[in-house]
Order: sequence, then C-alpha cells, then structure tokens
Amino acid sequence: MNTVLIANPKGGSGKTTISTNLAGYFASRGKHVVLSDMDRQKSASAWLARRDEALPLIHGLDGRGKHADSLSAEWSVIDSPAGIHGDKLSDAVKRADWVIVPIQPSAFDIGATEDFLDILRAEKAVRKERTFVAMVGMRVDTRTRTALKLQAFLDNAGFPVMTNLRDGQIYMQAAEQGMSLFDMRPSLVARDMQQWAPLLQWLMDAERHAK
Ligand SMILES: Nc1ncnc2c1ncn2[C@@H]1O[C@H](COP(=O)(O)OP(=O)(O)OP(=O)(O)O)[C@@H](O)[C@H]1O
Ligand SMILES: [Mg+2]
Repeated sequence: MNTVLIANPKGGSGKTTISTNLAGYFASRGKHVVLSDMDRQKSASAWLARRDEALPLIHGLDGRGKHADSLSAEWSVIDSPAGIHGDKLSDAVKRADWVIVPIQPSAFDIGATEDFLDILRAEKAVRKERTFVAMVGMRVDTRTRTALKLQAFLDNAGFPVMTNLRDGQIYMQAAEQGMSLFDMRPSLVARDMQQWAPLLQWLMDAERHAK
C-alpha cells in the first residue's frame, strides 16, 4: 500500500482540499483508494457523503478503528487535523510513505509552517528517508508579492516544492458537490490539471518502488 499523509497544523491551509482531490485522482485512475479522516471536524468524510455513487469509488475511513491496510487499498490518503502534534504526528509520519504539506502565501501561514517543517525534519522516518516530504503552494497567485515571499521561503525549506495550485472557485464547487477536479469536465479544469501534474507524477513514479 502507498500511504500519503496530508499535514500542516496551520488551520485552513488546504489539507482537506488536497486530500479529497488526490483521492479523487486515484479513483479516476481505477485505483483502489481509501480516504482516511483523522479530523474530528470530519470535513473529508462529509465530502465523501456528498459524493454521487456514479462517480469513481473512494472508500472512507473515519480515523477510528480500522486502518486502511486492512482494506487492501493500493493508495491510502490521510487527511489530518489542524493542530496535529506530538505522538499522533510522529505515528502518522512514520506510517506514511509521503507527507504533503500545503501552504498558503501569507505571513501567518509561513510563520506557523516554519515550526512544523522543523518538526518534520527531526522525525526519524524523514531523516532516514523512509518518508518523503513535499510542499504544495496553495491559493497562489504568482503575480503577487506574497507569492514571491512564499517562493523565497520554500526555496530554503529543504523540501521539494511539487507545485503551486491557484486560488479558484472550482475548488469550492468541487468541495460542495463531493467531487474532485478529476471528476469534472476536462475543459473546466485544463489549467488546474497542468498544476496538479507534477505532484501526481511524483507520486505515481514512486508507486512502482514503494515499500
Ligand atoms: N486552491 C484553492 N482555491 C480556492 N479555495 C481553496 C483552495 N484551497 C482551499 N480552498 C478553500 O479554503 C478553505 C480551507 O481549505 P481546507 O478545508 O482544504 O483546509 P484545511 O487545511 O483542511 O483546514 P482545517 O485545518 O480546518 O482542516 C476551504 O473553504 C477550501 O474550499
Ligand atoms: Mg481539513
């Protein structure tokens, strides 16, 4: 099983958005995917409950009880809560093959994420390169000064930046409808598909060599 943890303790950084869309991508590719919701707010579970049965199947786990490995999934996508820290974070990082850290271009988000990246760097699984960390810029408008500041921060973060996703209404619409961008008409999301491509490529390339 390939396990992807989406994490950033900063609230509202885009964890559930990445988690739901990533799960939707794997499902659209015919993969057996489990979306695990560690968050007590249950946003990812609620999204799944809104999902039309006719769309590619995503199995849901609400974080209590069973683990995804008991479901023989090919891909396990884990949405984590704001404020995750301590043993809960360490355990989740240890279990993951990849950690994706969404970050928005604001001074508050950068400040909060800086500390989190220090914690990730100190995790044994990350130091031993058993778990790989990548960053994703979220709601990035590349024409702005804040985007440049985010870029400068990420250049020195020590983890690869896989992509920047734009700030788009389409993400809100998808969230409302239990859809991912990968369930939408391709003409609506052409630009977004290009933005997602490097992240998906990174994960799919690694799938072949996964533990
Ligand atoms: N690229 C984007 N474009 C537009 N809206 C976005 C984008 N990414 C996230 N959002 C919106 O920002 C809000 C916060 O995103 P999301 O719920 O994914 O963050 P989160 O990290 O899961 O939050 P929490 O810490 O509360 O779990 C949501 O309303 C979401 O629809
Ligand atoms: Mg969330």
